[in-house]
Amino acid sequence: MPDNKKYLGMTVYEESGGNFSRVIEEKDLNALPEGDVLIRVQYSSLNYKDALSASGNKGVSRYYPHTPGIDAAGIIEESTAPDLAPGDEVICMGYDLGMNTSGGFGQYIRVPDNWVIPKPSSLTLKETMQIGTAGFTAAQCLLAFEENNVLPSNGPVLVTGATGGAGLISCMLLVQLGYEVHALTGKTDQSPLLKELGVSKVHDRSLGMEGSDKLLLKARWAGAVDSVGGQVLANVIKSMQYDGVVTSFGNAMSADLPLNVYPFILRGVHVVGIYSAECPMERRKTVWKRLASDLYPKKLEQICSSVTLEKVSEAIEQMLAGKLVGRKLVEVDNELSAHLD
Ligand SMILES: NC(=O)c1ccc[n+]([C@@H]2O[C@H](COP(=O)([O-])OP(=O)(O)OC[C@H]3O[C@@H](n4cnc5c(N)ncnc54)[C@H](OP(=O)(O)O)[C@@H]3O)[C@@H](O)[C@H]2O)c1
Repeated sequence: MPDNKKYLGMTVYEESGGNFSRVIEEKDLNALPEGDVLIRVQYSSLNYKDALSASGNKGVSRYYPHTPGIDAAGIIEESTAPDLAPGDEVICMGYDLGMNTSGGFGQYIRVPDNWVIPKPSSLTLKETMQIGTAGFTAAQCLLAFEENNVLPSNGPVLVTGATGGAGLISCMLLVQLGYEVHALTGKTDQSPLLKELGVSKVHDRSLGMEGSDKLLLKARWAGAVDSVGGQVLANVIKSMQYDGVVTSFGNAMSADLPLNVYPFILRGVHVVGIYSAECPMERRKTVWKRLASDLYPKKLEQICSSVTLEKVSEAIEQMLAGKLVGRKLVEVDNELSAHLD
């Protein structure tokens, strides 16, 4: 490959006065970090963490200029790893990708071989990124329910932040597995979509704030999937049935947790934390195997839309404003972006 090879990608620049700007521009392949595997990225996806990275959140990305994108799926062009060959279709998500390592919002990534997994044969590259970190995280929540014996017969389960990427896929998978799913959302105008996915009842986000001053609330949920944190998560934990399980993976509302110990010592509530970026490789492969089989989100197309690299900035603004519904696939290798080849 010529040394001066160029590709297109997003660069986030830190400007004076604490401002950040985003451009899609030509980048040098040589400027990518060292790594075992060079991947030509076909698709990425937009996750909340990308929106934070793309807007200068130093808790996610410390160093700028930077290319975000915690998800990438594509084709290997160069590899020094014995089990990964040029031409292989692969997925790379999490670890440091898109945080401080140049990420999937560029047409190339170069990464260590132990970040890369072969694409499951029954999924297309596009489907892996429609699922992306959001769907992977939803599947991990389902596994946590299985491992902690939260069965559909135990009672209803709640999904918070229900119209977000991880929320909608969680709703879909739980319905598929036979749970009675309730959704908590700030966008009750999306009730038709949630009902279409099989959600039994849609609750306004304000329900999640009721009784915040109480130590315990009426026991309602056998399980809960939470992407928002804060007072909503605290109240969800206070509303769990005896032995109920809450999976916590997000802080779209707040990173605080104003809580007391009674849900734990009087109801035996379990909270399972999920962090997909550092999910160990063996489990990662297990989760993808399940996503490619019984946990394939059957109505994925209904909750996904696509953007090109050139349009991803607008979607980032919508996401930060809490206005985005569902998943955004990022078409990184679309025709417009490929003119540099
Ligand atoms: N730990 C992990 O491994 C992991 C993996 C994936 C995601 N996450 C985290 O999970 C969260 C969701 O990620 P995502 O990619 O699904 O993001 P997303 O698509 O933007 O969804 C977030 C949803 O949260 C709700 N929300 C937004 N602002 C809120 C507020 N101020 N108060 C209450 N609810 C609010 C909205 O849903 P409604 O309007 O329906 O309420 C929104 O659609 C983020 O915090 C993300 O960082 C963590």
